[in-house]
Amino acid sequence: MMCEDVDRSLTHLVHIPDDGGDTITCYNANGFLILVSSDKRAILGIRSVKIRADDILLCTYPKSGTNWVFEITRETLTGKIIEDDVTMVQRLIEMEPEESYADLQSPRILNSHLLMKHLTEDVLKKKIKVINVLRNPKDVAVSFYNFAKKIPNLEYKGEWKNILRPFFEGKFMYGSWMDYVINWEQVKKTNPDLPVLTLFYEDLKQDQMREIRRMCEFLGVERTDDFLSRICDNTTLTAMRTLKTKACYDGAVFRKGGVGDWKNWFTVAQNEWFDQLYQEKMADCHLQFKYML
Ligand code: A3P
Repeated sequence: MMCEDVDRSLTHLVHIPDDGGDTITCYNANGFLILVSSDKRAILGIRSVKIRADDILLCTYPKSGTNWVFEITRETLTGKIIEDDVTMVQRLIEMEPEESYADLQSPRILNSHLLMKHLTEDVLKKKIKVINVLRNPKDVAVSFYNFAKKIPNLEYKGEWKNILRPFFEGKFMYGSWMDYVINWEQVKKTNPDLPVLTLFYEDLKQDQMREIRRMCEFLGVERTDDFLSRICDNTTLTAMRTLKTKACYDGAVFRKGGVGDWKNWFTVAQNEWFDQLYQEKMADCHLQFKYML
């Protein structure tokens, strides 16, 4: 989809139609679509971002719980409960120009929704720690639809029935969820020495303490259970909505925050269509997604 070198002349806005003709406005960076509010300098410079060996890169497909895990990671890493309005968006390397995070203290936590092949080679060369958060695709689709409707500069007014097919075909920003997941699984397989922690949104919902303990081990930090439970309290959807709403899309990101909302949206026909598609596209994928808890 995206050529390896982003050409300055090829960054522009595009309006991608859903099945009813309503459009989502995306930013086209040399054929690859990203969020419309991205800074042009960020995407143009993405292959030359200076990565530090102790950077931590949070890699997610949008709507998979990036904001949540970013916050948990910050607190786990620093050993402090943080009550500010910094969000993952300010550290999204394809959206923010490098100067906005270049001077941060180490270890930095950076975020990206891109595939490995779009990132600087230093990620692999320096073998930085990567946290890859995955979420079941049905809830991702519902979350994406609601996000698209709420963010004014996406200019989307479409209906749920018209978005599912183009969404899973990867027509909108960041391409297809399936390509993303398959691609990252491939990266893990072909780079066994790259330290990657795979987290599932559903597992975090089910047992956040257990998952943060896994994060501690991965990050090489020791924290007490008491501290971990304080992180849990400080990163509930309500707590984050209160702290981050102004800084993060007017709170559109903090919607329901559960597992299984897709049941309120998918019709029987949509569900059958999706399950069939999943079987076809993900036949070789060993991952098991939880659709209900
Ligand atoms: P829903 O739209 O299903 O509610 P991202 O941060 O990658 O954009 O993902 C957004 C999704 O994560 C939204 O899902 C949002 O509600 C959920 N989310 C954000 N903060 C959360 C939190 N603190 N706890 C649980 N879920 C959270």
